Amino acid sequence: MDAPRIIRKLRDREEPTQAELNWFARGLASGGVSDAQAGAFAMAACVNGLSEDARVALTLAMRDSGDVLEWDLPGAVIDKHSTGGIGDCTSLLLAPMLAAAGAFVPMISGRGLGHTGGTLDKLEAIPGVSTDVDEARFRKMTRDIGCAIVSAASDMAPADKRLYAVRDVTSTVESVDLITASILSKKLAAGPEALILDVKTGSGAFMESLEASTALAEALVKTANGAGCKTAALITDMNQPLAPAAGNALEVAVIMEALTAPKNSRLVEVTLALGAELLVLAGIETEAETAAIKLSEPLTSGKAAEIFDRMIAEMGGPKDFASDWKRRLPEANVIREIPAPTAGVVAALNGRGIGIGVVHMGGGRLKGGERIDPSVGYSEILELGTRVVKGQPLARLHAASERAAQEAEKAFLASVEIGEAASPGSLIVAKVG
Ligand code: URA
Repeated sequence: MDAPRIIRKLRDREEPTQAELNWFARGLASGGVSDAQAGAFAMAACVNGLSEDARVALTLAMRDSGDVLEWDLPGAVIDKHSTGGIGDCTSLLLAPMLAAAGAFVPMISGRGLGHTGGTLDKLEAIPGVSTDVDEARFRKMTRDIGCAIVSAASDMAPADKRLYAVRDVTSTVESVDLITASILSKKLAAGPEALILDVKTGSGAFMESLEASTALAEALVKTANGAGCKTAALITDMNQPLAPAAGNALEVAVIMEALTAPKNSRLVEVTLALGAELLVLAGIETEAETAAIKLSEPLTSGKAAEIFDRMIAEMGGPKDFASDWKRRLPEANVIREIPAPTAGVVAALNGRGIGIGVVHMGGGRLKGGERIDPSVGYSEILELGTRVVKGQPLARLHAASERAAQEAEKAFLASVEIGEAASPGSLIVAKVG
């Protein structure tokens, strides 16, 4: 086999075989395929698109370019993935809740990408925590605690690492086929038997329009099922932050509140909806409604908090974090309110603008590999539809310096619209699969 022939097939809208795609993915992982060939491959796939079968074949080839985990555990092995948003800390809540319900959740997560936050950065806001655990410890945590949220080992889906880097510099990131193969190759390498996808839509999402979010959800669901993993997706609203906070330690604080003093919120609603669908997909429950009731029990009983605590301690964090988290989380130097410039109703919150505000404060990365400041961001963000008087706080900002605070305030105010009325859409917009 050779790379030019496989690229030519894609260029001419012919279907490469599974064997050819396996060969190409192995070449991406080993370096046998050059950057030029990887770029041409990505561009041909991006411009011509892949058939459903070819998308499944590419996903499997990329998954199999490295280690694929197999499990022998006394319960279902399940996972969740979100396409990313603002204040989206659902994974931190859902994984211990699912573990408390008797499932096993080996969750390989990512860092912040663009304007969106990443689960690993949030976890590492807890002093001492390192999400870089080796495979043996990942397996042990999953078996003994029921959940583990870690970064991908370098030998999992290595073809994606290479192709992603090439896509980033060849204007081919946007291809739904390549996004699908990229996300799923990593998720499926962790060996789940069922997967729920949270595809965000709206101003804080990668795919802002409902049309684009639906196309991505459909491609992901069809491909994952085609690759043998029972999968469904919920399309959920990202026209405002999901939690009332954006920033790493600030979102951990929201999670700790939810785990230790649970009350209804948009975050809990989405978490329960995703978890309930997943328990049904995995055959643990038959009805989503009863699954949601069952899943909320570990929140109120404190069992999910206990599991979260064990996971944090195992990753190097403080013991008994759940009882002591307020004292442990890092605090920014400058903390102050952002007053409403006029009276009215919070009519729009631009998620992308808020996320970029956090990145510029140092809570995310402008260049790969940068260290982030876990303490910064926005908290107590008012929900759409809240009526305010002039001067009332719209949110609190947490910044490293007075200068950063001034910029962050400007960025936030540019992302908020105060008007006559708000029309927030449904939180759960649609189900796919
Ligand atoms: N996240 C991924 O892992 N891959 C993509 O291509 C886009 C988002």
